[in-house]
Amino acid sequence: MNVNSDLFPCVRADIEELREGVVLLPGYCSTPELYKIVKRVLKFAPFRYMRTPGGRQMSVAITNCGSVGWLSDKNGYRYSEFDPLSQLAWPDMPPEFFELAKNAAAVAGYPDFEPDCCLVNCYSTEARLSAHQDKDELCFNHPIVSVSMGLSAIFKLYGTKRGGTALDIRLDDGDVLVFGGAARLAFHGVARVLARGPDGHQGLEFLPEQRINLTFRRAL
Ligand code: SIN
Ligand code: FE2
Repeated sequence: MNVNSDLFPCVRADIEELREGVVLLPGYCSTPELYKIVKRVLKFAPFRYMRTPGGRQMSVAITNCGSVGWLSDKNGYRYSEFDPLSQLAWPDMPPEFFELAKNAAAVAGYPDFEPDCCLVNCYSTEARLSAHQDKDELCFNHPIVSVSMGLSAIFKLYGTKRGGTALDIRLDDGDVLVFGGAARLAFHGVARVLARGPDGHQGLEFLPEQRINLTFRRAL
């Protein structure tokens, strides 16, 4: 598969290992191009608000692409080949997404990562994601690759047991966070989405009021 290097032209040397297994690639990808591809996915599988197994509506709108998609409803959290809205298969993972996630993982020290699912999350400034582990996947040998677009957010990274003090990571537009190895089952969540960054950054022209996160996983 061709690597579309236009999407990640700005690989910087300041790769930060924040903790064992946790690598931040600041400004790794160019998001206007990436956003055009997100919009193509949304035509086939629009954002929707899912319910937790307990019946609460999530404040983050989600969709998926890839051979399976993550979902939540009264029957629990799981992966499915089909979009429950359309009853059709989820849209294929765009090759540019696959290459971006594979490259970012390799740069972060995970050369064998090949995602089969991309969960797409959309946050308004009111949305939150409570602390959880990504543990619906069949095997935890592969990392999670998380790409941020639009408004910045405060991402909380805990240890592998619930509670304790979190590492607060500000994720800005174009940042990629990779967590695997000792941190693969770390609890994490999004405490808040910033309407304005410390430097007055107000989101992007194409995403002025939202944050979109692409979470790449190997589910099967
Ligand atoms: C997730 O844990 O599913 C998403 C994390 C994020 O939005 O940064
Ligand atoms: Fe997660």
